[in-house]
Amino acid sequence: MQSNDPSSAPCPCSIIGTGSYLPERIMTNEDMSKIVDTSDEWITSRTGIKERRIAGPEQATSDLATNAALKAMEAAGVTAADIELIIVATVTPDMFFPSTACFVQKKLGATNAVCFDISAACSGFLYAMTVARQFLNSGSRKTALVIGAEKLSSLINWTDRNTCVLFGDGAGAVVMQRSDEPNPPGRVLSAVMGSDGSLTDLLKVPGGASACPITADNVGLRPNTIHMEGRETFKHAVTRMCQASEQALAIAGKTAADIDMVIPHQANARIISVIADRLGVPEEKTFINLHKYGNTSAATIPVALDEAHRSGRIKRGDVLLLVAFGGGFTWASSVMVW
Ligand code: ACO
Repeated sequence: MQSNDPSSAPCPCSIIGTGSYLPERIMTNEDMSKIVDTSDEWITSRTGIKERRIAGPEQATSDLATNAALKAMEAAGVTAADIELIIVATVTPDMFFPSTACFVQKKLGATNAVCFDISAACSGFLYAMTVARQFLNSGSRKTALVIGAEKLSSLINWTDRNTCVLFGDGAGAVVMQRSDEPNPPGRVLSAVMGSDGSLTDLLKVPGGASACPITADNVGLRPNTIHMEGRETFKHAVTRMCQASEQALAIAGKTAADIDMVIPHQANARIISVIADRLGVPEEKTFINLHKYGNTSAATIPVALDEAHRSGRIKRGDVLLLVAFGGGFTWASSVMVW
């Protein structure tokens, strides 16, 4: 059930550039209250979310991903020809196939890359980073683009107030590269991943794929939208995120006192607050931007990382704890030196 990445020792690959992209259209809690029976007060007090971004009808997930990737590549100082691996973590691919990563490859002109997607819901970006590290550490690739991108508005049931207020669209990307230095900045010290497939029913999009194709008979039930048991998901999220964080810290040889910033999955401010409390990390050392974007699933951590870096909230040498939880259930955590 729980697996520790065997290559968790300090490794010679690191993040050398970050980028993010959020669609322009803002949908506020006030806007939501015109669609379903909700209020700014309920959404803010239960989740911390004030507004979210919604992609345009002409934008697919690969468009959001490509915009984020271009910024990460510019920050890293690499060209499309340098990219040898593209991994996109998403639950909202452009199509069942080709992979969203292949669409990103086409849009970037990254003809030297091997491309595939990872499906691990909100943990997808940390899963993808760990997979990319295996390629880089093994020496089979030198430069990788790792992206978390979602157009969750395409999976929302806009009549279900339990879920529609929670999610948004966005993308974040990092360029990872094998380094010749033993301790490059942006390096990952540890990576923990876990899954529990016995709880697939608590958070899912049940229809629209092979188990339940959309038919004229079931389309009215909207099976191709997000279904979530919020309260149960909340409890599992807190437990698993705390466990994974403690494991990642132990493998890295760090304690909570060493953490300069926690970059958590942005699902609910209350979840983040409970985790910080249990770990013994002061709230000012948790990065939160969910008030602006809601839960963008696989995109939350790379978007937060990019904003924390560009705004100066994190600086070189800081110890970061990244931690995520999502449908599956899946969870993951990493300790980094920025
Ligand atoms: N506006 C007003 N009332 C609402 C709304 C709304 N938008 N949504 C639900 N309610 C009502 C419910 O109907 C319920 O009313 P009742 O008591 O009369 O039945 C009441 O509010 C309480 O509902 P709960 O679901 O118990 O509310 P809770 O405090 O648990 O908050 C929430 C719900 C925000 C969804 C929370 O449970 C949560 O954040 N869960 C975890 C989400 C998460 O971490 N997901 C994982 C990642 S997502 C991914 O992988 C794609």
